[in-house]
Amino acid sequence: DTVGKVITCQAAVAWEAKKPLSIETVEVGVPKAGEVRIKVLATGVCHTDAYTLDGFDPEGIFPVILGHEGGGIVESIGEGVTSVKPGDHVVPLYIPQCKDCKFCNSPKTNLCSKIRNTQGKGVMPDGTSRFTCNGKTLYHFMGTSTFSEYTVVAEISVAKVDEAAPLDKVCLLGCGITTGFGAALNTAKVEAGSNVAVWGLGAVGLAVLMGCKTAGATRIIGVDINPDKFPIAKEFGATECINPKDYDKPIQQVLVDMTDGGLDYTFECIGNVHTMRAALESCHKGWGVSTIIGVAASGQEISTRPFQLVTGRVWKGTAFGGFKSRDGVPKLVQEYMAGKLKVDEFITHNMKMDKINEAFDLMHAGKSIRSIVHF
Ligand code: APR
Ligand code: ZN
Repeated sequence: DTVGKVITCQAAVAWEAKKPLSIETVEVGVPKAGEVRIKVLATGVCHTDAYTLDGFDPEGIFPVILGHEGGGIVESIGEGVTSVKPGDHVVPLYIPQCKDCKFCNSPKTNLCSKIRNTQGKGVMPDGTSRFTCNGKTLYHFMGTSTFSEYTVVAEISVAKVDEAAPLDKVCLLGCGITTGFGAALNTAKVEAGSNVAVWGLGAVGLAVLMGCKTAGATRIIGVDINPDKFPIAKEFGATECINPKDYDKPIQQVLVDMTDGGLDYTFECIGNVHTMRAALESCHKGWGVSTIIGVAASGQEISTRPFQLVTGRVWKGTAFGGFKSRDGVPKLVQEYMAGKLKVDEFITHNMKMDKINEAFDLMHAGKSIRSIVHF
């Protein structure tokens, strides 16, 4: 029985930036008041993990346990925790939902601010860490740290999901799939009959395609400089795909010409400020809406001529697909179980925890959609 005791387990530790993760034996502390300790069964590997590991995040703190697309089982709970109990299946959430703050009380946003400050500093809400390794404190990451066999998260940072759902699949609903799917349905609110274009056909872009198809969009154009992504994009709902490298003209001009004046909705799923501009300028005059999903590098800025907005184009952005996290993720799991949402199709690679660095290599090489690391 591990309840009330420090757990010793394996974790992939990022000791410093630009170094591969190293598999270490770590100690995971007892969950304090309002906290939950989770046995992580599987985790996805996402760009935000790589961004921090590669040293691009100016707020990145080391040593740290990365990971934010996990699925696991509650091992024990701290004082006062009422919404989950040991044995519950959960997906940790990097955007919590306290149902109490100004943001949670607004139907217009999902950006709960309750534990933002401590989460950004790599510690639990009480200002301390639950991880140590060889006597050194390790920091938490995004309030989740799923690259560890056991992790501790705030109660408001877990979604309880159907026990029948495979955790090594629905863990992906902790980030990329939810982000893209929700961007189409919640943020842009794509309507039936719309024309849309999606920049970047990785997991996020594919999830946007799926959302647009669900919404009943009729023309769905995938845009990517890697044509190897086109077949899978078509499986996810793209009706056609184009490679900007095949044209001499700027891609916005190509698309405006192809669509009789531009698109009703566009989505940027790359994190590149130039494609963000192209996506906005590909929108139809009067009503086109462009949604930014990709996270640009620190310090980057977007630009366009204000005339683009004056003449009715709208620039939007979204995090976690606009879903209120604790409410949204269990519902998405149910939609997946009902066969209405693809998840398995995003998984191109599976590996054991000791091969986690290969997941980063595959991602950097553009060879994977998502890798699942199993503990
Ligand atoms: N024009 C068109 N497509 C591009 C360009 C470009 N200039 N640059 C890159 N791409 C394509 C890549 O070929 C790739 O298919 O964008 C896709 C990005 O996919 P992934 O790298 O698999 O990223 P994904 O996991 O989908 O995340 C997308 O969202 O999470 C944020 O900021 C994060 O950059 C990440 C983005
Ligand atoms: Zn809140």
